[in-house]
Amino acid sequence: MKLKIAIQKAGRLNEDSLNILKDCGISIDNGKDQLKASARNFPLEVFYLRNGDIPQYLRDGVVDVAIIGSNVLVEKGTDLRIAEKLGFSKCRVSLAVPKSVKYESISDLQGKRIATSYPNTVESYLKKKGVEAELHIINGSVEIAPNIGLADAICDIVSSGSTLFKNNLKEVEKILTSEAVLAVSPRIGKEQQEILEKLQFRMRSVLAGRQ
Ligand code: PRP
Ligand code: MG
Repeated sequence: MKLKIAIQKAGRLNEDSLNILKDCGISIDNGKDQLKASARNFPLEVFYLRNGDIPQYLRDGVVDVAIIGSNVLVEKGTDLRIAEKLGFSKCRVSLAVPKSVKYESISDLQGKRIATSYPNTVESYLKKKGVEAELHIINGSVEIAPNIGLADAICDIVSSGSTLFKNNLKEVEKILTSEAVLAVSPRIGKEQQEILEKLQFRMRSVLAGRQ
């Protein structure tokens, strides 16, 4: 019996996720191009998946647990349980506008076009603020949108801020902060739950050691 864990296939969480498993003393047979790998010394099977697909895989019980950004859970996994906060891959999800634009408050976005990969997050933020805008959903390179005339503002992940800077954008509203978390399938079996507890025990001591 093995615990099935999803991690991000490529991108900002991939390396940090593999590192925490390694720091837990778990060695994974790693063919980068393989979508699935097994641990040699722990009952764990690793699935490399697209970030945005992970909440549904958890719901369906295709995987038992996942290392995922809490921002993805806010966007499409508010029903999923978080077992552990992992403290790495910290970022924020923010609204940004061109540097040259005068921005005073969120009401400046009334009736404007916002490009984003996080429509639910933006929509609920705007709703809370009583602002209506037109959302354009893009899956990547969102920051280019204002420069090509596709949008007046964007909402995306900000980490170092260098992507905003390079695209002449300024951060104007911080919607949420995010970090990597361990999210659990509602369909996890009893034996897998026991393996998960062993994994969490190891993770906690790794995280304590990082403080
Ligand atoms: C992510 C994110 C931002 C950028 C933020 O994009 O979508 O664009 O990183 O990081 P920074 O503040 O340190 O610049 P990524 O490079 O992962 O590519 P993508 O948007 O095409 O998925
Ligand atoms: Mg990007």
